Amino acid sequence: MIDIFATESEHTSGLYAKHDIALVKGQGALLWDEQGREYIDCMAGHGVANLGHAHPKVAQAIAEQAQTLITCPETYYNDRRAALFTALSALAPGLDRVYLSNSGTEAVEAAIKFARLSTGRTQIVAAMRGFHGRTMGALSATWNKKYRQPFEPLVPGFSHIPYNNTQALEQAVDGGTAAVLLEVVQGEGGVYPADPGFLQAAQALCQARGALLVIDEVQTGFGRTGKMFAYQHFDLAPDMLCLAKSIAGGLPMGATLLGPRVSNLSPGMHGSTFGGNPLACAASLAAIQALQEENLPQQAAEKGAYLMERLKRLDSPLLREVRGLGLMIGIELKQKVAPYLQEMETRRVIALPAGMTVIRLLPPLVISYAQLDRVLAVLGEVLNPDGAGS
Ligand SMILES: Cc1ncc(COP(=O)(O)O)c(C=O)c1O
Repeated sequence: MIDIFATESEHTSGLYAKHDIALVKGQGALLWDEQGREYIDCMAGHGVANLGHAHPKVAQAIAEQAQTLITCPETYYNDRRAALFTALSALAPGLDRVYLSNSGTEAVEAAIKFARLSTGRTQIVAAMRGFHGRTMGALSATWNKKYRQPFEPLVPGFSHIPYNNTQALEQAVDGGTAAVLLEVVQGEGGVYPADPGFLQAAQALCQARGALLVIDEVQTGFGRTGKMFAYQHFDLAPDMLCLAKSIAGGLPMGATLLGPRVSNLSPGMHGSTFGGNPLACAASLAAIQALQEENLPQQAAEKGAYLMERLKRLDSPLLREVRGLGLMIGIELKQKVAPYLQEMETRRVIALPAGMTVIRLLPPLVISYAQLDRVLAVLGEVLNPDGAGS
């Protein structure tokens, strides 16, 4: 049998900080390693597996489409793509046109280009602590020096204002601004939800000054925060919506949804070989249908409230703050989280960091209350200073 660890280590690019676990199987909110050990998944593939692992409807749709037609460029029409366009537009009223790609960073990259095309302006205003991806345009909108600095000079025209600071936004948006690009809950940056007033001000400013409002819901989309899209908590009408991660039940896909103020898109201006392929479209259709049938946005709201309330009651002097929206929860500690995440993993709960001091919980929305209770018990043990986590 292949030695998974030695073989991957030999050939890896070196770009990933790896855990000493080989995950080989999943079901719902559970994962198993190559030795058959079971884990509760609170990372969901970095927010991809909202529907849980091995969802039967998604698996069936992929299998059927794989035997029908996998590839078909957008220069030709396709039945699955047409159905997906309808489904996505119905989820986000006012955003009637769709550009399909293959990842989150591509969804953002497209939005940046479309904003420049639509407005004839070049400047993009983003937020400190924001994360939008790692290709050069999306990276230019990303805040963290660690990701940016090795690749400078980046794309010109990007500026960053403090998140939730309306006054700074007012000063930054002017006649040269093509777009304001924001997450509704900053994910990688530490799980910081937006103030409603800040988002409303961003929208009003964009409208008044001729800029486009681009909302990046790569991480917050598809039920994660308790509504289909997080912007729907705040009664916003974005000009563009960037989607990816859980959009296709785990298959790679990105989407940029476009409102009426997005213009000047003509053949050849942008595109993607894999974008809109029928396999990903079929998976996405099945995933969206399952999300709706199982009422998963509502479940995320209820389970998130359940988890948040109990986390806030955790008796630990290590705890600084618990915050989040739906099943996107950040537990900020007074110290670095790496050893605590390691302890959780030893106790068979897999979670994520968000920066150095925040434990991020992004479980599949299908996680059971019994599994949530187990996660809470593990966190209680690990964050107890007399326990092994100290
Ligand atoms: C808000 C946000 N935007 C964009 C991205 C980039 O997505 P991808 O890794 O699919 O390129 C991420 C990834 O974590 C994200 O959280």
